[in-house]
Amino acid sequence: MTDTIDFGSDFFFGSATSSFQIEGRSDAIPQGESIWDTFCAEPGRIADGSNGLVACDHVHRWAEDVQLMSDLNLDKYRFSVAWPKVIPTGTGAASAPGLDFYDRLVDELLGKGIEPMLTLYHWDLPQALDDVGGWLNRDTAYAFADYAQVVLDRLGDRVSTWTTFNEPYVSAGLGYVTGEHAPGHRNLREGLTAAHHILLAHGLGMERIRATVPDSDAGIVLNFTPVEPASDAPADVAVAAARQGWENEWYAGPIFHGAYPEATVEALGWDQSEVQDGDLALISAPVDVLGVNFYTRSVVSSVGQQIPFGTPRTEMGWEIHAPSLKRLLLWLHETYTPAKIVITENGCAMPDTERVDGVVDDQDRIDYLRNHLTMVHEAREAGAPIAGYMVWSLMDNFEWALGYEKRFGIVEIEADTLRRIPKASARWFAELAKTGVLPG
Ligand code: FCB
Repeated sequence: MTDTIDFGSDFFFGSATSSFQIEGRSDAIPQGESIWDTFCAEPGRIADGSNGLVACDHVHRWAEDVQLMSDLNLDKYRFSVAWPKVIPTGTGAASAPGLDFYDRLVDELLGKGIEPMLTLYHWDLPQALDDVGGWLNRDTAYAFADYAQVVLDRLGDRVSTWTTFNEPYVSAGLGYVTGEHAPGHRNLREGLTAAHHILLAHGLGMERIRATVPDSDAGIVLNFTPVEPASDAPADVAVAAARQGWENEWYAGPIFHGAYPEATVEALGWDQSEVQDGDLALISAPVDVLGVNFYTRSVVSSVGQQIPFGTPRTEMGWEIHAPSLKRLLLWLHETYTPAKIVITENGCAMPDTERVDGVVDDQDRIDYLRNHLTMVHEAREAGAPIAGYMVWSLMDNFEWALGYEKRFGIVEIEADTLRRIPKASARWFAELAKTGVLPG
């Protein structure tokens, strides 16, 4: 037994989801196609051949889901708005039923004492915008700002925390460089362009948030995978440095320091031709909150990624290494000095095969969460301004290219019935959220 940890009353606990992964569709809410609908329809793109048409059917079960969060004592809920539900073709007139859906959701959350934290973009770009270049087209950044305005005008009076983007690294890197995600391109040069246009959209979105809801907390959610060389060999160290620049500094650098990481710009041979005067000033306007998504670290060598022998992994194949989270948080605090850090995603896909009385007995997930929360606490004690922790995810959902086979939820979604059944980890997390104390 270790000591108990008291997070104190000024620390919050919540859960996170995203629109495409949970919502599904409703006939009452006409929506446009997104790049993920298109991607899912292409044979071979999604491991189990699934799609987001039903997902967790949150679009119909949202009130039940809010009640669930209330039963789990959550202080905050991080969700994303689906751009294709609000402006079906990406630009032009807003759709009333789409906006009404989020309006009702926000009211329901507030009514149950759960504070909404809204992400404007979690990867579901309207297909109509991809048809004219998607994130390769600078105009998409301006379309994003107009879409943000529509959401701000409707929800700005009630939502107090706004983030522009979720994980631009993944949108640009997996969407345009490796092709694992929508829109499935494989071109490094395109990835650099997409990354810059997404950052520009962040800057333009921040301007709208500031102008419309000046008292809100505003920022962005970035993912980080601390990189370590497998050995001191110069070739390994060089690979680690290059990966560090692209995976951990490419977005934080422009946002907090107004510049892309120079060594990586050179290593990638990027001419920065898409960067226009004023872009970096816009991108580096101060943020109130940095959302940090953390899952694992990368140990790299000149012959590829290495997971040390015998290391525990999740169902994603990701190494479980909680100390890296503490190291990351302290590095972020020292390097970028964000005013406020929120852990906006942390969690794990586990086998979920053990059951007690029909309930998933996921002690491995509880251990993962406990160990990572301990590191969050230590980083906080060491001075990092961490305000709260949100588990990924509230419920099992559509895990992108891996479909429904990887389950990250603390709540099970029963196949066929879509019944919500809290796992052992949900009960454990509910107790933590209620008391603020991590049991020893
Ligand atoms: C993050 C995503 C989130 C989820 C988790 C497992 O990269 O933001 O939607 O897929 O990974």
